[in-house]
Amino acid sequence: MAWKWPWQPSSGALVDFGQWKWDVHSHLVPGVDDGAATMEDALDMLRGMEALGYTGMVVTPHVMSDLYPNTPGTLQPAFDAFQSEAKASGIQVELKLAAEYMMDPHLLELLRKGPILDFPCTSIPDGKPHRLVLMEFGFHQAPPKDLVKEAMFVAQTQGYTPLLAHCERYPYLHKDEELLTLWRERGGWMSVNAASLAGAYGPETREMAARCMKRGWVSFVCSDAHGMRHVQALGTLTSSRTLAKWAESDAPQHLGLGAH
Ligand SMILES: [Fe+2]
Repeated sequence: MAWKWPWQPSSGALVDFGQWKWDVHSHLVPGVDDGAATMEDALDMLRGMEALGYTGMVVTPHVMSDLYPNTPGTLQPAFDAFQSEAKASGIQVELKLAAEYMMDPHLLELLRKGPILDFPCTSIPDGKPHRLVLMEFGFHQAPPKDLVKEAMFVAQTQGYTPLLAHCERYPYLHKDEELLTLWRERGGWMSVNAASLAGAYGPETREMAARCMKRGWVSFVCSDAHGMRHVQALGTLTSSRTLAKWAESDAPQHLGLGAH
């Protein structure tokens, strides 16, 4: 069956996704985590992102010691197969393999001994190169503050910049933002999910995403695409005033992956 993209840009579109070129958080590598289950699903999602204007995607499979004990060794062959299928299907979007690391003692060990799947970013506006490592917290319980401090410190001494995944999606941070303040003060970057801004996780999460964006805390708005629903969530945001205002600010970071 021919693939059909369900989204059409409206004449009142305020946001052009093509301006960011790269999406930096997604689960498209088939069969390695709770993202795309099949190659066909992954290619469909990639076509959807291409239709939105993206020219590159950093794919970030979960690394969790218990649920998804992925390593570069398990991920690289699956990524290579995905990349060659995408090319063979005529999709132009560039792909880069990184990972989304759960903040736990296993991450600390990986940061100390390697290997880590990071991705490069040239900071705007100062032009400084960064090697970003995407990290997430558990949804139900805040990670110990000392663990966060230690992981950030070790990451930074190894030359990495920690990037927090979906800073708006942790309910325990909605009323007590101390951990976010700590993250920022210690040089961590933050990202939000497009689906949060589209209201997929309820009004409180949407408000938290908007609040962090308005404060200039957010470097990336990401698809965190596990399925087509997340690609479609991006498509609904073309008339988002919050996203349009954020796009005009100097908070968004654009990847210059080709330059590294
Ligand atoms: Fe994710």
